[in-house]
Amino acid sequence: MKKAFFLITLLFYSCSSVRTVPLMKGKDRDTYESKGREYMISSQGGASTNAGVSMFEQGGNIVDAAAAVSFAISVERPQSTGIGGGGFLLFYEPGMKEPIAFDFREKAPLKSHSKMYLDKNGNEIPRMSLDGIFAVGVPGLVAGIVELHKKYGKLPLSKVLAPAIELAEKGFKVYPELSRALKARAAVLAKYPGSKKIFFKGERVMKTGDHLVQTDLGQTLRSIAKDGKRSFYRGWIAKAIVKESWRLGGLLSLRDFKKYNVKKRKPVFGTYKGKKVYSMTPPSSGGIHVLQILNTVEKEDLNHFGVHHPYTVHLTSAAMQQAFADRARYLGDMDFVKVPLKKLTSKKYANKIRKGIPKEKALTKEQVMAGNFDRKESDHTTHFSIMTADGSAIVSTQTINGWFGSGVVAPGTGIVLNNEMDDFSTKVGAVNLFGAVGGQNNLVQAEKRPLSSMSPTLVFDEGRPVFAVGTPSGTRILTCVAQTILNYFEHNLPLYESVAAVRYHHQWYPDEIRTDLKGLPISTRNSLKKMGYKINRKNLGCRIQAIAWERNELHGVSDPRGEGMSLGK
Ligand code: GLY
Repeated sequence: MKKAFFLITLLFYSCSSVRTVPLMKGKDRDTYESKGREYMISSQGGASTNAGVSMFEQGGNIVDAAAAVSFAISVERPQSTGIGGGGFLLFYEPGMKEPIAFDFREKAPLKSHSKMYLDKNGNEIPRMSLDGIFAVGVPGLVAGIVELHKKYGKLPLSKVLAPAIELAEKGFKVYPELSRALKARAAVLAKYPGSKKIFFKGERVMKTGDHLVQTDLGQTLRSIAKDGKRSFYRGWIAKAIVKESWRLGGLLSLRDFKKYNVKKRKPVFGTYKGKKVYSMTPPSSGGIHVLQILNTVEKEDLNHFGVHHPYTVHLTSAAMQQAFADRARYLGDMDFVKVPLKKLTSKKYANKIRKGIPKEKALTKEQVMAGNFDRKESDHTTHFSIMTADGSAIVSTQTINGWFGSGVVAPGTGIVLNNEMDDFSTKVGAVNLFGAVGGQNNLVQAEKRPLSSMSPTLVFDEGRPVFAVGTPSGTRILTCVAQTILNYFEHNLPLYESVAAVRYHHQWYPDEIRTDLKGLPISTRNSLKKMGYKINRKNLGCRIQAIAWERNELHGVSDPRGEGMSLGK
């Protein structure tokens, strides 16, 4: 029966065999790709990758390297991450039964509530969850990284923070992506004296080639180097942020900072054709849906068709559609709401989804699920992966959410505060910046963590991590991660091609397949259109940072779409 279905499918698509894989190109392949026999780091910034490398060179371990990258990338990419934000991290070292998932996601302030972004008529107040002090969740990054480092790091915190402090105080040239972000958020940054002081030259926002020095951030990092997370959560830094929040009429209090807690969680777990896959559990939706997508396509011989064959794209897109419908219906912070995690990641459920996908026809959004929920997400996040030859691995995705988060910097701190509150559903049924959908389980509640898509993921084979992967880009994160895993393990593409191949994304609402601008092969596009798909060519924004363990060698690739760097030894 299975064989007959396979032959019919093959016949249906026999006219459109697609074997060439269009690749996205970057500046210089050597920056993006590296091989090593001891350690490997892939991150979204050259200075940040070098910060991690310098830890290994000083005799530090993988945790020292991860902490150094985290603080350095906070300085190098103030538009997308930082100590005013939060994130998730998976850590594994030999001897552990499975990786540990660290959750240092922001929390909703104690005074927040489900109607805080609505006017008296119940309508959303435009941009209130995106710009300004009401958009800010209690930051978790400092607590997460400092606690991880305290337990597992080897070098003193002062050494780990040194590269970040130097980068902040000496400064660096504004690069094109940073300049684009500054331009896009100039009006918001200009409203807050703490922000304007850093990112403006007089009355104009900084641009490519300007020298960006972050003196106040350097001072803040020095405090953290000296007394760990204390000054941030109980000392002058918390006080400065709360003072600015009061000035602006916001909700943040010193109690919020005192009560912030990191959670160690059990990662979600599944398998793909015999390989073990571990990824982030709620409050991220990422891991559950990466597994759900992989499970849905697992029984197909997609390798036979090829990466961009219409059947591959159709089936995978339909799996993505269902994942996003379920995400809207079920996902939220499991400390507050019930999430049917086991069911969503089960092979049984995936088989049921698979059976409902017609072989030559797109499913409409109404057919996938009769629902009317809404969901918010942003795409300006960062990810890094690190692996060592002894079989240790760290993957971490970190964010302040949108470009320059809320736009608020509390004077004297240099910290760009997140706008992670926008990752909550501000109202069930409203459409967000990115057109994604969310629901009841993700409404704002005091101390709850907003739903995320961040999917730091490790794949294991024969008892050791063989693949480390993750990316920024909001809802696209989980589909980009799933595709990279499929490209590498299903289609057997080399690592560089697995990362560089044109990607696609379907998120149920809007009802379209979005692809990198370069686009899928024309024959694939035509077949998909015939099946009823709308295709939207608009870059997905993913910047995959991947590392593979191949024949006793570490192989790192930083996405050639971005400004990152892979480096190892
Ligand atoms: N703010 C992006 C995410 O958490 O997925």
